[in-house]
Amino acid sequence: MAVAHLKDIVKRYGTTLALDNVDLEIGEGEILGLMGPNGSGKTTLIYALVGLIAIDAGEVQVFGKDQQANLVEIKRRIGLVTQDITVFEDLTARENLEFFGGIYGLKGAELKSRVAQTLELVGLEDQADKVPAKFSGGMKRRLNIACALTHGPEFLIMDEPTVGIDPQSRNHILETVRELNRQGTTILYTTHYIEEVQAVASRVVIVDEGRVIAQGTIDELVGKIQHEEKIMLEVAQPSEELLEKLRRIDGVKQVEQQGKVIKIISQAKAGNLDRALSVAREAGGLLSVNAEKPSLEDVFLTLTGKRLRDGGEKK
Ligand SMILES: Nc1ncnc2c1ncn2[C@@H]1O[C@H](COP(=O)(O)OP(=O)(O)OP(=O)(O)O)[C@@H](O)[C@H]1O
Ligand SMILES: [Mg+2]
Repeated sequence: MAVAHLKDIVKRYGTTLALDNVDLEIGEGEILGLMGPNGSGKTTLIYALVGLIAIDAGEVQVFGKDQQANLVEIKRRIGLVTQDITVFEDLTARENLEFFGGIYGLKGAELKSRVAQTLELVGLEDQADKVPAKFSGGMKRRLNIACALTHGPEFLIMDEPTVGIDPQSRNHILETVRELNRQGTTILYTTHYIEEVQAVASRVVIVDEGRVIAQGTIDELVGKIQHEEKIMLEVAQPSEELLEKLRRIDGVKQVEQQGKVIKIISQAKAGNLDRALSVAREAGGLLSVNAEKPSLEDVFLTLTGKRLRDGGEKK
């Protein structure tokens, strides 16, 4: 079942077409990675999904229900981690969570125990009684995430939750995301970092200029682009015969010898690396292998013509 379905969403800001007929489903139990260059519409898509902005056309369903008619119930079951940090600087970590939990109607012993669990989940239990003004960037990010979790949402939406933090906090956040997903939370994870998508996402959506331009598993997306693969074989005795055999492999475009190293440029077809290896092994004396496969970064670059971090990062 789909936890959310955006149907042909259009959103304009003045003359800017921020969402251009976006159609997207988020399946129950998945971690969907949402990627796109700066200004491509990711935050706008999230705001449309949770009903924070009015859309110009289209329809949003969440938990199988019409969003507009069920806004209060839907918001109660969603957690939103905002791109900009939205914690109270003058309240302690615990007080921040008590405040956000309270908004969702938690109180008394239940609120206390949910706050304690959430602090532990994000690794801030030792900092509970400190104010975020004293926190590192990573700790603030973790508190920002915790604020969206106290009420135990079924569907968690994270808008660039790891911008500007240290690797240790990043790993902690990624582990938290995986743990929440194991416990059954559906997650929409927006990021500029391809490594994060590769680490947590079961499926990826790429948006550009307000449109969904590709979606699928990482393997499906990589398979979509006709990319060249570079294979470097180091052999003990390179021979003209071996070079000829390699050239005859279907999809191989170029074979070059540089000393003991043979450079092969091939279409990224499944199996060509294996074929080249077995040909080289037959000829005897295969010393080393180095292959560069297209990555999600190549997919992104091929589809959007932009590097993911174009325009730098937001603080
Ligand atoms: N409140 C607003 N008023 C006017 N234009 C806006 C507003 N919010 C967003 N936009 C424009 O809509 C487009 C999409 O912006 P959005 O913030 O959704 O992109 P994004 O993918 O989240 O970018 P980033 O990676 O920088 O967070 C951009 O052209 C942006 O300038
Ligand atoms: Mg954004």
